[in-house]
Amino acid sequence: MKVAVLGAAGGIGQALSLLLKLDLPAGTELALYDLAPVTPGVAVDLSHIPTAVQVKGYGKEDLATALKGADVVMIPAGMPRKPGMDRSDLFNVNANVVKTLAEAIVEQCPKALVGVITNPVNTTVAIAAEVFKKAGTYDARRLFGVTTLDVIRAETFVAELKGKNPAEITVPVIGGHSGTTILPLLSQVAGVSFSDDEVASLTHRIQNAGTEVVEAKAGGGSATLSMGQAAARFCVSLVKGLQGEEVTEYAYVEGEGTHARFFAQPLVLGKNGVERLLPIGSLSGFEQKAMDDMLPTLQGDIKLGEDFVQNA
Ligand code: NAD
Ligand code: LMR
Repeated sequence: MKVAVLGAAGGIGQALSLLLKLDLPAGTELALYDLAPVTPGVAVDLSHIPTAVQVKGYGKEDLATALKGADVVMIPAGMPRKPGMDRSDLFNVNANVVKTLAEAIVEQCPKALVGVITNPVNTTVAIAAEVFKKAGTYDARRLFGVTTLDVIRAETFVAELKGKNPAEITVPVIGGHSGTTILPLLSQVAGVSFSDDEVASLTHRIQNAGTEVVEAKAGGGSATLSMGQAAARFCVSLVKGLQGEEVTEYAYVEGEGTHARFFAQPLVLGKNGVERLLPIGSLSGFEQKAMDDMLPTLQGDIKLGEDFVQNA
């Protein structure tokens, strides 16, 4: 098994790579790629940790070798937000980053499972899909926008509010990954109940949790450590799926298109990536209204990505 991390020297990339060195199954090869000159050094540093995961670093010119034969590719490459910015403000820089990396995936590992972390996720996943489609290699079961951070945040905030152990709380989060497109389904949380005020304030906090970190870091970037954890969990689930274990996760994928072409939803991972989509269940009146209100935004974000590749 080979896992490649593109953007491995960044804030997320380093945290993710550390956790993958610790958590991937024995025998996995971990390929670290970034434009930053420090990348081979990050790989040497991690290689001194005594686990049976072999780490190799690749510099700017070595993208093809880093990707060659990869089974899973995680993409945290690109610019993070600063205070006052929306995720959509990252489009101008990150659209090209994701397009370039997706084109290299087409050449080197067209059958890999690809997890896109780079923002704006609502749009960058559509960019990767269109690049793959243009090349004739697109398989919707193999492309994922990583929204695990929304799920772990929701579980943490609910547990905090209700004095529970986060490990015992499950919160579905569907839709997209920005602002109101992030839709937690608090009505489906088992074992706790919420007042209307709690639903409104928790929903708002979950939707704005990224901004909470951006503001607290005061110009020093966005979530890297919690995202490293979220991405590592998702990547390990992808690998377990490829190894034949069925694992349930949430991710932003091209599903049945009921709400939008790409939509974060529960799914079962397996040997082909998405093994099957799971239903989102029934929504409360509050959640249904939030869904109806945000769908035009999500659909517009997706179209931006599609047009970017189609008009290139
Ligand atoms: P960072 O600036 O710390 O790291 C980004 C890294 O990407 C840098 O090392 C840079 O050299 C590298 N890079 C840039 N262009 C590249 C290219 N073409 N090829 C390879 N590497 C390249 O940023 P970060 O905090 O790690 O955030 C990375 C991205 O992840 C941002 O777009 C951020 O908004 C996004 N993000 C997404 C989520 C999510 O939930 N999906 C959460 C947090 C951050
Ligand atoms: C997050 O949710 O933390 C990320 O999408 C980064 C950001 O810009 O908020």
